[in-house]
Amino acid sequence: MAKDVIIALDFPTGEETLRFLDRFPAGEKPFVKIGMELFYAEGPDMVRKIKDRGHKIFLDLKLHDIPNTVKRAMSVLSRLDVDMVNLHAAGASEMMRGALEGLTRPDGSRPLLIAVTQLTSTDQTALKGELLIDTPMAETVLSYANNAAQSGLDGVVCSPLEAALVKERCGAAFLTVTPGIRFADSAVGDQKRIMTPEKAGRSGCDYIVVGRPITQDPDPVAAYRRAVKDFLG
Ligand code: C5P
Repeated sequence: MAKDVIIALDFPTGEETLRFLDRFPAGEKPFVKIGMELFYAEGPDMVRKIKDRGHKIFLDLKLHDIPNTVKRAMSVLSRLDVDMVNLHAAGASEMMRGALEGLTRPDGSRPLLIAVTQLTSTDQTALKGELLIDTPMAETVLSYANNAAQSGLDGVVCSPLEAALVKERCGAAFLTVTPGIRFADSAVGDQKRIMTPEKAGRSGCDYIVVGRPITQDPDPVAAYRRAVKDFLG
């Protein structure tokens, strides 16, 4: 299985994004994540531009709608030739199966499809008080992950602290994509449950998503290489 470091391209404009990518030498093409901010600002053209430069792309748009709408939207996204996309497991199994169907290209290939379980910004208080879910958070996350696995999805986005439990419940081949990564000496920012790339590498994480510790570093190329070296060992 291809373990890798994914850089979160959390920039507001295409110009800033491309300037950041230009700092890497021609032969070095990190796996990158394009989220809602950049996609809504610049549209599919930015995805094509970054793909044309030779990067693998995780398109992090977290789809959540009725099964038919998600299926049709995924079909459009599959034509962008991205490598990984995601949706909310809260959309339930029929939606997840529809997404897989829509994502599968005529030749049978498709990007990896990853589910978001519970957003890390949702805490137990909101779960119980607003969403009226009485089950403890960890159980909810594992149950959503299990639904995703049963629906044929490839993995989940989860905290690095949950990766081993997800593997235990859903099988070793079920992918874990984990944000909340910080070097031992980097600023924590708003992330609450964090892990170093090195520890994540030993904790069952398949892909780590690293944003600010790389993008805000004065030498992002060195920071990226450090993350890769620490994570892959
Ligand atoms: O800058 P930082 O390393 O915290 O960036 C992490 C990236 O992962 C951001 O793009 C953030 O939106 C995303 N993410 C996250 N936590 C989640 C899901 C996604 O930090 N639960």
